[in-house]
Amino acid sequence: MTDKKDVLQPSLWTPRPVDETIAVYADWADRYHAEVTERGYQTPDRLAAALTKFAALDTEILDFGCGTGIGGAALRKVGFRTIDGTDVTRQMLDQVADRSIYRKTWHASPADMGFAAGSYPVIVAVGVISLGAAPPETLAPLIDMMPEHGLLAMSYNDPTLADQSYADALDAVCDAGLAEVIFREHGPHLDDVGMGSDVIILRHT
Ligand SMILES: C[S@@+](CC[C@H](N)C(=O)[O-])C[C@H]1O[C@@H](n2cnc3c(N)ncnc32)[C@H](O)[C@@H]1O
Repeated sequence: MTDKKDVLQPSLWTPRPVDETIAVYADWADRYHAEVTERGYQTPDRLAAALTKFAALDTEILDFGCGTGIGGAALRKVGFRTIDGTDVTRQMLDQVADRSIYRKTWHASPADMGFAAGSYPVIVAVGVISLGAAPPETLAPLIDMMPEHGLLAMSYNDPTLADQSYADALDAVCDAGLAEVIFREHGPHLDDVGMGSDVIILRHT
């Protein structure tokens, strides 16, 4: 029997070119939702709970890198009502089982996120700007897409926290005065491997 701890490591949490990232998620798409749920994926609920402290429940939210909809479902559970979703992996979007989670979804490309700058006061990115998913260079352009005082709620899991390039990307946007961290908390990410994550909320200046 394959040990669950071996299924995703070390293959998932490593840097890779964007085409390979999409291929990894395309291949994983039909099993992703059940697997991460079974493994005790905690970050979406933690991020959604944190966001209720800073955003009104009727705020329009973009779930960036929404995957199969786990983050959107967590946002709905705490009462957010207007959520759109986008992802670069079409097969992940095809697996959004509950179509009532999102007002709309679309397939984006890493070069074109497919929405107008300033159109979402809140963007969430659960496990997206992450080792093995979107590269650290995704952070600054995503912040550029936010309106003044817009919020970006995101997470860095433990392997991502240990990769200096992701810490540097966060420091760079803060040091440049583009955003400030208004919430940051470490807690459980994946129960079965005892992995943690930071939930981080940034406010665009
Ligand atoms: C670990 S999954 C997280 C999915 C979902 N947010 C969740 O919490 O279940 C990472 C997702 O990021 C997407 N992704 C990777 N690079 C991306 C990029 N540059 N832009 C948007 N989504 C990206 C992948 O296709 C995948 O669906």
